[in-house]
This record gives sequence, structure tokens and C-alpha cells, in this order.
Amino acid sequence: MEGVTVVDHPMVQHKLTLMRDKERSTKGFRQLLNEIGRLLCYEVTRDLPLEYVDIETPLTTMRAPRLAGKKLVFAPILRAGEGFLEGMLDLVPSARVAHIGIYRDPATLKAVEYYFKAPPDVAERLVILLDPMLATANSAVAAVERIKARGARDIRFVCLLAAPEGIKRLRETHPDVRIWTAAIDSHLNDHGYIVPGLGDAGDRMYGTK
Ligand code: PRP
Ligand code: URA
Repeated sequence: MEGVTVVDHPMVQHKLTLMRDKERSTKGFRQLLNEIGRLLCYEVTRDLPLEYVDIETPLTTMRAPRLAGKKLVFAPILRAGEGFLEGMLDLVPSARVAHIGIYRDPATLKAVEYYFKAPPDVAERLVILLDPMLATANSAVAAVERIKARGARDIRFVCLLAAPEGIKRLRETHPDVRIWTAAIDSHLNDHGYIVPGLGDAGDRMYGTK
């Protein structure tokens, strides 16, 4: 599917299956989300540009590659997106972080923003939006619009599970935003939940209802 990468690495798929299990504890769910976050970070940064620099090893000189492109901003959509953050920052400790507080109204499924704080230079950075769930894409579309309004021009979206409906909506609304996901599930149910899915990611992370 154009603009969508399904991360089918066996470690990711195994951990995702553990997360889907309704008996998984809050602690286990959070831990797995963190671990998958680190693995997805590898994939979403796979094509970052490199440049060659001269260095001296203890034995000799050589030309060696280092990252050359834009610096990163990780932008978790609260609450559940925060579950990816620690794993991502483990790999890219110098990245900046933008927090986007958005929840989905359970009755209307519309996105409601309640918090936004981003670094001043997002326009010069690659912004990686983080949210485990892409369902209707109302939250993702609102988050992309919010960060674009701040000047961001280079945006990627990382999730764990995506519904076909959400992928279509996000790709049609923002074709410049590519998506990385661990799986594309079957459909949304009448309440906008991903099926088979894993339930409410935020509630499962924090033990709320
Ligand atoms: C969940 C999820 C996404 C959103 C996806 O958040 O983390 O942000 O729903 O649904 P959508 O694609 O239909 O917008 P939720 O509103 O439950 O907030 P929470 O993370 O604070 O629990
Ligand atoms: N948000 C979730 O947390 N889970 C879903 O299945 C849909 C939206």
C-alpha cells in the first residue's frame, strides 16, 4: 500500500501478539509497548541520510558514516503515544519532544485537543508522530494539522495497529505523511474500535477504564 510500511519483523509480531492478549497485565503491556517502540524506531529511521567524515581510530584514519539529515522530534499523542517515547529516546537520546494532548470523544469519535507544547524549531526537523492506535484517524489528522500549523513540513506517523479506514483517511488527508505500523487489522466496530485490535491502548497502559 502506497505510503504505508508494515513492520513485519518477527520480534515485533511476537510482542504485538502478547499485547493483544486480554490477560496481559498493565505492567506487561507497558513494557511491551516500550520494547516495540524501540524496534519501530529502527524502521522509521532506516532511510535517514548519512554523510562521510574523516576520523582517527586507535589504529588508522578512515572515512566513516554519520547521520547527516534533519534532527528529530518525537511527538507522542497523549496518552497512549507516550508508551512509545522511552524506547524511541533510548535510540535517539538527543531528539526533542513535542507533546500533543488529544483525546477521542467516545460519543462523536471527534478529536478534542487539550494540550500542545512543541520545540520552536519543528520546521527544521523531522517530526515523528507516535500513537499506538490509528482507528478513524480523527486524532492523527488533528495532530498532523496542529504540528503543521506550527511549521512542521516533514512528518512521519508511527503506530502499532491501524484500521484500513484510518489509513485511507490519513493518507487522503495528508498524502505527504507516511505511515509505519506493526499490523493492519480487519475493520472498525460500531464504536470505532479496531477489530481484532487490543482494546483501549491508553486504558491498558495505565490501568484506567
Ligand atoms: C486513542 C488512541 C488514539 C485514538 C485513535 O486515544 O491512543 O489517540 O484513540 O482513535 P482515532 O483514530 O479514531 O482518533 P484516546 O482517545 O483513547 O485517548 P487516551 O490515549 O488518552 O486514552
Ligand atoms: N483507540 C484505542 O485505544 N483503541 C481502538 O481500538 C481505537 C481507538
